[in-house]
Amino acid sequence: MKIVELDANDATQVEELFTLQQEVHAADCPDNPVPLREDFLGSVRNPPPDGRFERLVAWRDGRLAGALTLVLPEVDNRHLALAEIQVSPSHRRRGIGRTLLERACRLARENGRRDLLAAAIGPVPGGAARNGAAAGFVTAAGFSVALESVRRRIDLTAVDAAAEQRLLDQCLSHAIEYESLGWTGLTPDDLAGGVANLVNRLNLDAPTGELDIEPETIDADRLHTHERNAIERHTQLVGTAARHRNTGEVAAITLLNVRSAGDHGSVTLTIADPKHRGHRLGMIVKIEIHRLVRRAFPRLRYIQTGNATANAHMNAINEQLGFAAYETNTLYQLAL
Ligand SMILES: CC(C)(COP(=O)(O)OP(=O)(O)OC[C@H]1O[C@@H](n2cnc3c(N)ncnc32)[C@H](O)[C@@H]1OP(=O)(O)O)[C@@H](O)C(=O)NCCC(=O)NCCS
Repeated sequence: MKIVELDANDATQVEELFTLQQEVHAADCPDNPVPLREDFLGSVRNPPPDGRFERLVAWRDGRLAGALTLVLPEVDNRHLALAEIQVSPSHRRRGIGRTLLERACRLARENGRRDLLAAAIGPVPGGAARNGAAAGFVTAAGFSVALESVRRRIDLTAVDAAAEQRLLDQCLSHAIEYESLGWTGLTPDDLAGGVANLVNRLNLDAPTGELDIEPETIDADRLHTHERNAIERHTQLVGTAARHRNTGEVAAITLLNVRSAGDHGSVTLTIADPKHRGHRLGMIVKIEIHRLVRRAFPRLRYIQTGNATANAHMNAINEQLGFAAYETNTLYQLAL
């Protein structure tokens, strides 16, 4: 086996890596949205800002048999590294994953990182079929569970419009001091500062389990830089907010990514400012975004969201809206 850095300018290598992603998707989670070539090429050539992406590929018998993506945050959380390893189904249980993980640990240490994180999907009762490979793999390498979370998805075409309207009306009666706003593309300038503040609150307010993680320090400029980068990678952005009428404060938001094709979107985050809780704003922004999505992206059928198992309030809102759990997505951590 030969492990080399991915040459992002080598079209054959990049295409082999895309084929690997397709094989892994088909073997491990075929009901999840299929990898899209456009989106994949965008992520290789133009990765998100604020971090370095190291990509190694493992060659065996003339085929690209495995890959490591190591994300090294460069602005916040510089003590962390995040590893994603994929091994072709026809090359598993031969130590390729373990060798790539050893390289990830070495690279992370060389870059002064204290903890290595890795995510593992697994089954939930009544959900999609999932193997336990990822959990078995990271546990064997000495990782421990840092944050248990569950992914849920909703089929927007199965939503009862009249029931949704009743729920919205009930919630709005608790929120007369707030107005609802929605947008597609970049967050509007007059909301960007408030939205950035709430994004930063996420690591403070949402359950983080055993994760060794710091709040981010995003401002309006950084938020827009991230958003422009996502748009350049062909991701479409949607957001809704509840704004306090008297103070103009952004009180709650939910943000969504829509892929360049297909019928899936995914929630980036939903959060209400602790100062403004108790007004059903979480539910309101979520219903409003479903309505906006139906108007702006009629091709979209499913929305996926991931939340910590311990986040009882958010999970209750999602279940009430019609989201159903289909897989776990557990974050594991290894002290380096
Ligand atoms: C998880 C994955 C990367 C493992 O790759 P691999 O090359 O088969 O792993 P290795 O052969 O190096 O296995 C190392 C050890 O991990 C554990 N392991 C690997 N696959 C396992 C499985 N299916 N069930 C239980 N334990 C497993 C075993 O202890 C194994 O040692 P052993 O074979 O001597 O018993 C691969 O299954 C994969 O690509 N899955 C989809 C992507 C993914 O979920 N990645 C998450 C990790 S970031």
